Amino acid sequence: MSDNAKLDVRGNTIELPVITGTEGEIALDISKLRAQAGIITLDNGFVNTGSCSSAVTFLNGEKGILRYRGYPIEQLAEQSNFSEVAYLLYNKELPNSDQSKKFYDDIAKHAALPGGVSNILDQFPATAHPMGVVSATVSALSCFYPEYLNPEATDEIKSRALPQLMAQIKIIMADFYRKTIGKDSIESNPSLGYSKDFLTMMFGGDVDEEVAKALDVLLILHADHEQNCSASTVRVVGSSHANIFASISAGIDALWGQLHGGANQAVLEMLEAIKNDGGDYKKFIDKAKDKNDPFRLMGFGHRVYKNFDPRAKIIKVACDTVLEKLNINDPLLDIAKGLEEVALKDEYFVQRNLYPNVDFYSGIIYKALGIPTNMFTAMFVLGRLPGWMSQWRELREDPAAKIARPRQIYVGENERNYVDLKKR
Ligand code: SDX
Repeated sequence: MSDNAKLDVRGNTIELPVITGTEGEIALDISKLRAQAGIITLDNGFVNTGSCSSAVTFLNGEKGILRYRGYPIEQLAEQSNFSEVAYLLYNKELPNSDQSKKFYDDIAKHAALPGGVSNILDQFPATAHPMGVVSATVSALSCFYPEYLNPEATDEIKSRALPQLMAQIKIIMADFYRKTIGKDSIESNPSLGYSKDFLTMMFGGDVDEEVAKALDVLLILHADHEQNCSASTVRVVGSSHANIFASISAGIDALWGQLHGGANQAVLEMLEAIKNDGGDYKKFIDKAKDKNDPFRLMGFGHRVYKNFDPRAKIIKVACDTVLEKLNINDPLLDIAKGLEEVALKDEYFVQRNLYPNVDFYSGIIYKALGIPTNMFTAMFVLGRLPGWMSQWRELREDPAAKIARPRQIYVGENERNYVDLKKR
């Protein structure tokens, strides 16, 4: 359905097309605004601005709804697995048994990194932050697969890009972790399944099925989230026809920030700080509310969800399952639950619709699995990769897609003449 909106700007009235999405969302199409009226819009942080039309993920922040290609996240978390969800996001439909087997086989083809990439990985100091290592190594992959640099990458290359990168990022993360603990890397055994293979490569030994399943659910919950900061970064870089490795590497760097994927590490550091400070989480709630204090409650609030983040609900259940299965009594979980309980009743948080988000409980599960805190955001990369690649592929296959090039409102100096102040 399409109709028009009228916009009156200083006596000049123009009509703007109103477009409606398949879930009833409406938008003003301003693509011809500057040509028609010589004006642009300004929207700090793109809070009200849609950058694209997309069929990958639908979320409704007010109702706490999240669906991948139309499938509710709750059903996928309960009935599917991460590799199948990755296939769904990237190929638009769930795989049949032949497609599923081929996808697993394509992941299994990359059970080791190219030798040169392993050499690059070996050059990073054990103290390096895993996000820097993963971002740099993914970008370096472009030097080993020149066929991906062709902007008109063929369908065959696109179809193998996701399983290849899923396999290689898993190895990059596990191999670098083993290096940081002074141990030899463990070869990938794709027949274990994606999540169990990763945990085995990280820690060796037998990985409990339920623990592997909990990680698989976490990866499903992180797989995509429409036009979040890092997915938008991947789209912006991809819109210049940069290759997939460069685009994904940029997405990894955007995710690194504390306000985005870096929040899961920041949540654990915050809980540790509260514990070390005596466990009085009410003191930290007051700090979060204090406008003069830069402290924010990490893992709380969200640009889109003004209701519970549906992923946080599922992760909280998985958190209880993992801690019980591993027989861990983590005081940080008690602090987290106390923080949540107080914040959800506090006027400051209620008024601003600040609820626990995906990062609030995920770090506690990662800690219970033995994953070091500085790898938590890299775990977000492992989950989010299929989403980034699905958004990149959708952009690159859209004949109407344009290079991302926003405008601005200039607020600097007006014209002035040069004076050599050095001669004054
Ligand atoms: C992710 O976009 C996505 O989809 C992201 C993500 C994904 O899957 O890709 O869901 C993953 O990034 C989750 C968010 C992880 N980040 C954090 O947990 C960091 C803590 N959260 C905040 O920094 C904040 O809530 C953001 C960054 C998440 C959202 O910020 P917005 O939308 O820009 O909101 P805002 O900064 O304008 O805040 C609105 C008000 C402000 O108060 P007032 O000026 O109105 O008085 O809420 C306050 C803020 O000060 N506020 C907080 C707060 N978050 C917002 N106050 C204390 N603690 C917080 N966490």
